[in-house]
Amino acid sequence: MKFTVLTFGCQMNVHDSDWLIRAMESRGWTAVEESEANIFIINTCSVREKPEQKVYSVLGRLAPLCKNPGDFVAVGGCVAQQIGAGFMEKFPHVRLVFGSDGISQAPAALEDLARNHDKKLVLTDFVPEYPEREGGEVSSNLDLLPPGIGTIPGQAFVNIMQGCDNFCAYCIVPYTRGRQKSRAAEAVISECRSLVMAGVREITLLGQNVNSFGMDKKGAELTFAQLLYRISEIEGLERIRFTTSHPKDIAPEVIKAFGELPNLCPSLHLPVQSGSDRILKKMGRKYDRARYLGIVDGLREACPDIALTTDIIVGFPGETDEDFEQTMDMMERVRYESSFSFKYSDRPGVAAVRMHPKVDEEVAQNRLARLQESQNRITRESLEALTGREMVVLLERPSRKQEDGGVSWRGKDPGGRVINVHFEGCAEEAKLGGKLVRVKIIEAKNHSLVGAKLGEPW
Ligand code: SAH
Ligand code: SF4
Ligand code: F3S
Repeated sequence: MKFTVLTFGCQMNVHDSDWLIRAMESRGWTAVEESEANIFIINTCSVREKPEQKVYSVLGRLAPLCKNPGDFVAVGGCVAQQIGAGFMEKFPHVRLVFGSDGISQAPAALEDLARNHDKKLVLTDFVPEYPEREGGEVSSNLDLLPPGIGTIPGQAFVNIMQGCDNFCAYCIVPYTRGRQKSRAAEAVISECRSLVMAGVREITLLGQNVNSFGMDKKGAELTFAQLLYRISEIEGLERIRFTTSHPKDIAPEVIKAFGELPNLCPSLHLPVQSGSDRILKKMGRKYDRARYLGIVDGLREACPDIALTTDIIVGFPGETDEDFEQTMDMMERVRYESSFSFKYSDRPGVAAVRMHPKVDEEVAQNRLARLQESQNRITRESLEALTGREMVVLLERPSRKQEDGGVSWRGKDPGGRVINVHFEGCAEEAKLGGKLVRVKIIEAKNHSLVGAKLGEPW
């Protein structure tokens, strides 16, 4: 069978799609471009209205492509969990709907539907325990996956939990991904070990709120800090990252780890959402400015070079100019290296839907523009401050811009910054993905750095 997977949303969806591609390929299916596919799998996101709307436009586009009796569409991910069988009523070419926990049964369901053309299936039940997946979860490594299927050589993602218990007032995730379910620490550690043995050098641990790892198992499981220390011991693992962290759950031991674990990357995504105590309270975030800033101080004390990034929502119901100024002030105090910022978007069923007054669209747009302008300045300044520094870059793929007389590659430094490096006299097809190279930063661009190579890649 020829299939294609279209992925929207967060890292967890990207990782789920990688796994599904591998699971289907191991059953003899072939991943192809959309124009050649018979079976189309859409992995969806419903965190804001825009990504949700995308699903409907993609479904419209795919309808004329399902011309043969065996052609069909499968909708998975967060919108699938939210809408369920409703998709099949509106779109007859949709024959499979699978939600967050249903994905582990999706490969068998897809095979079944490819054989039985009249059948339709809905897999949207939540299960009480973390569902381990067939063939393990190994996301990517140097050899296992055919090139070009959305994976980066030498890097891998490892799920440590599913779902979220926080019910932030604006967020649909706890409804679409279900309750928090930590994976068994031993399963996580053994997956990390096999990845490193297969050549992986950087592992990113994934979960909606990794800092509360194990809390759903009431002390029967390792804490997140203990898990980090265990993974850090794996010989040959050069870099560990994790995302996402809720500030309310970050333990002092995790902060300390940034100063102690040599392979824990000096970077942390710590979503603040708002700089106003009043709004943080309405959002149900359970920390205030002072506590957040205390965490930032602790992190910088443990690891002075730590690169901090964040998520911010503007225009949450009831946000005044004063509240927004507090968010602007937070940006100046923390000086994030980069941030994702969004206009608040009403989601079905979340608490904030009933909160008023809603902020005028134009006001929210202006706030977003001001915030992003200030972020761009801070990003530029912090990148400029790095010129002259030496860094080790993990190479990912050829740079978009190439120049004559060699090849340029883009990669990331331990802080997660994008660095482009030129390899003079090197052939275009040189296999540099997954290699490390020492560079000196010679130029700062708006969102990336340029490094001059100091030695041979290894
Ligand atoms: N679990 C992660 C983030 C999940 S969603 C966390 O708690 O940090 C990613 C980001 O989308 C959030 O951090 C938030 O900034 C944004 N977001 C979530 N719901 C939103 C909504 N209704 N409107 C606008 N932005 C939203
Ligand atoms: Fe989107 Fe959130 Fe679901 Fe990720 S978890 S796919 S960001 S709705
Ligand atoms: Fe969960 Fe994050 Fe929302 S921790 S409730 S997904 S903002």
